[in-house]
Amino acid sequence: MSRAKRKLDHIQYALNDKPSGMTGFDDVQIVHQSLPDCSVEEVSLHSEVGGLVLSSPFFINAMTGGGGEKTLEINASLARAARETGIALSVGSQMSAIKDKEERRTYSIVRKENPNGVIFGNIGSEATLSQAFEAVEMIEADALQIHLNVIQELAMPEGDRSFNGALERISHIANELSVPVIVKETGFGISKEAAAKLNNTNVAAIDAGGYGGTNFSSIENSRQERKKLFFDQWGIPTAASIIETASVTGKTVLASGGIQSSIDILKSLILGASAAGIAGKFLKILTEEGENELINEIEYVNEDLVMMMTALGCRDITSLHRAPAVISGDLYHWLHSRGLD
Ligand code: FNR
Repeated sequence: MSRAKRKLDHIQYALNDKPSGMTGFDDVQIVHQSLPDCSVEEVSLHSEVGGLVLSSPFFINAMTGGGGEKTLEINASLARAARETGIALSVGSQMSAIKDKEERRTYSIVRKENPNGVIFGNIGSEATLSQAFEAVEMIEADALQIHLNVIQELAMPEGDRSFNGALERISHIANELSVPVIVKETGFGISKEAAAKLNNTNVAAIDAGGYGGTNFSSIENSRQERKKLFFDQWGIPTAASIIETASVTGKTVLASGGIQSSIDILKSLILGASAAGIAGKFLKILTEEGENELINEIEYVNEDLVMMMTALGCRDITSLHRAPAVISGDLYHWLHSRGLD
C-alpha cells in the first residue's frame, strides 16, 4: 500500500473510530472553591513550552501531511484556524516529505497560512539528526515533536519491527537542535520508567500521549485482515500517564490522548500538564462542520478555561498545578499500585 493511501485511510478511520473515553479523567474530581478571590480579567491562559510562549494552554496536535490535495487542504485549514485563534499547531509526521520532496508542499502550506504562529514539526524516533534539521527547516518550526509509536508500527504489517537506539537518537537530536524538542506518545501513554529515561536527555518537554482517544491499534485492526486485537486495550490512560510522567521529571509535561473538552484540558493542567494537545476531536469538527466552527470551538474553549480558572481562584496555569483534586475509581487503583498515591 502506498504511503499516501495509508495517510488518507488513517484520516478516514480516525474519523469513524469512536474514542473509548477511557482516559481516566472521569476519576478526577475538581474541588470547588467558594471564595476564589479572583476575577475573570485577572486570569491569564499563557503557558510555556521550552521557552516558547503559548497564548492558550492547548494546541492542535500532529495529524497529517503528505498524501496529496486532501491533506494539503486539511493542513491549510488547521493552520488558518490556529492563526485566527493564536493557538499552537503541530504538523503530522514529516518523514514522508523528507523521503519524497514532492510532499513538502503539504507541510510548508502551514507556514504559508500562518507565518507568525507557533508551529511544531514532527518526526519519528527513527530519524537522524540531519532529518531533524530538515524537518525544522521545511516549516521554520519553533519546536520539534519526536513521536513514539511502537504499537502502531507493530500493528501495521508493513511497520517497523526494530526499536533499538531510539533514546540515543532522541538525546543526540535534543543536544544539537537549536529549537526545543518535545517527545510525544501517540495514544499509548508515557510510563514513569520511560519518562525517567527521557529525563536524562536535553528534551524540553514530554507529551504523555495517553490511552482513551484516537487508538491507532484499533484503526490498524480495522484496516487489516490479520488483526492484533491484543493491542486495542493496550496503554496507559491519559490521566494516569500525566501523573506518571510528572512524578519523575522536572521537564515540562504536556497532555494528549482523548482530550474532548475544556474540562479535560483543565483536569490535565491540574494533574501537572502545562498544555494539552487535541487531534481527533478537532479533525472531526473541521471535516464535519468546517473551519469556522473549529475557530468558534477553540474560542469557546478559551472562554471556558477562563471561567473555570476564575471559579478556582487560579490566575495562571502554574497555580492550577496546585489546585486540589480528588482521585477515585480505577485511576486511584492505578496510582496506588504504581506507588504514585
Ligand atoms: C495522528 N497522530 C499523529 N501523531 C504524530 O506524532 N505524528 C503523526 O503523523 C500523526 N498522525 C495522525 C493522523 C491522524 C489522522 C490522527 C487522528 C492522529 C496522533 C495524534 O497526534 C495524537 O497523539 C493521537 O491522535 C491522540 O490524540 P487524540 O486524537 O485522542 O486527541
